[in-house]
Amino acid sequence: MIRIREARKADIPSVLELERAAFSPPWSERALLDQIGREDGFFAVAVREDEAAGGGTVLGFVITRRAADETELYQIAVREVCRRQGIAGLLMEAMLEDSRRHDAASVYLEVRAGNSAAIGLYEKFGFTVAGRRKNYYSNPVEDALVMSLLLKKFD
Ligand SMILES: CC(C)(COP(=O)(O)OP(=O)(O)OC[C@H]1O[C@@H](n2cnc3c(N)ncnc32)[C@H](O)[C@@H]1OP(=O)(O)O)[C@@H](O)C(=O)NCCC(=O)NCCS
Repeated sequence: MIRIREARKADIPSVLELERAAFSPPWSERALLDQIGREDGFFAVAVREDEAAGGGTVLGFVITRRAADETELYQIAVREVCRRQGIAGLLMEAMLEDSRRHDAASVYLEVRAGNSAAIGLYEKFGFTVAGRRKNYYSNPVEDALVMSLLLKKFD
């Protein structure tokens, strides 16, 4: 059984390992520690039920930040050996629930234009492409797609 819960300090070594495998450039340990327990953010990890107490292997994580009525999805990643099992889907559901609880009107994110797995994940949750930022990423250089999801309807 997979459990999604808020990140704790004891999770950071395992998150850092996953961070370094999934992102270029990866966030530092300090940057990850700064995301824990923030009033204006959500940092959750996916762990096996029997390791939920902390300090075990983090299978996946999600980090968001809220400003005004908008949530920005900063990062989402799942260990390579655990992909295509629905773990990112569980993290997305938890992140969207947190956004709704805080009355967010929309969620947006940036993603590498060639990251078909992530784009597929976001589309599954109803995100659509709102714009493109030319050569936004480095190492390797690549465009970013800006994707967004409205949580509230406007008249
Ligand atoms: C993107 C990522 C988080 C998906 O994690 P995951 O746990 O494998 O995703 P899930 O199993 O929950 O898949 C949910 C949906 O995402 C889409 N998806 C996931 N992997 C996909 C792939 N390789 N190709 C196409 N669509 C994919 C599918 O729509 C899938 O639904 P389905 O299984 O019903 O078809 C994972 O591939 C990853 O960690 N990538 C590296 C980090 C990254 O690029 N993060 C995003 C940028 S911040």
